[in-house]
Amino acid sequence: MDGQCQHLQQDIRGLLSRLHPAEARAAGFGVSLRGLIGDLVRSWNDRLGEQTRFALRFETNVDIPDDVALTIYRLSQEALTNSVRHARAANVLVSLADDGNGRVSWSVEDDGTGIGDDSGSLQLGNGLAGMRERAWALGSDLEIGPAQPAGGRPGLRLAAAFLLAR
Ligand SMILES: Nc1ncnc2c1ncn2[C@@H]1O[C@H](COP(=O)(O)OP(=O)(O)OP(=O)(O)O)[C@@H](O)[C@H]1O
Ligand SMILES: [Mg+2]
Repeated sequence: MDGQCQHLQQDIRGLLSRLHPAEARAAGFGVSLRGLIGDLVRSWNDRLGEQTRFALRFETNVDIPDDVALTIYRLSQEALTNSVRHARAANVLVSLADDGNGRVSWSVEDDGTGIGDDSGSLQLGNGLAGMRERAWALGSDLEIGPAQPAGGRPGLRLAAAFLLAR
């Protein structure tokens, strides 16, 4: 039993380290967030840049704690994947900024089809619901709304703000 348990633990550790980007392991997630999200945005541009332009506006130099950084990275991954799968957008923008008052704001917005009734959409898959749970776990909430409420294609804007010290 003892031997089996040790094997199992090694397997799980190996799996977790494969899921965790190497650069983040070396530097700490918060330190390398700019590079990691930059890579994510670049990889989508490399694959789909002809149809959709992905951009990053990373406007903060504050130290972002690892748990907040990991959440922001995971939220960005899901938001970008959703924009590719569902939005048929021409532009997708990932933004990060701090308010100078101990909070960092994250958003991803696209100019695609939008989701209409967001409570219905939350039940269609696990992505948005999981994003909301990740935000809740850090005492924040996930805002879901149109990116361009004024007219034309509504697009989608997902946003959350996180305290840097809790
Ligand atoms: N950027 C977007 N533009 C338009 N519709 C969207 C967008 N993001 C999500 N949706 C809609 O909201 C629904 C729920 O999204 P969610 O991420 O929860 O599930 P999913 O992407 O369908 O499946 P998964 O569980 O694999 O993430 C989608 O099925 C889609 O209809
Ligand atoms: Mg999804």
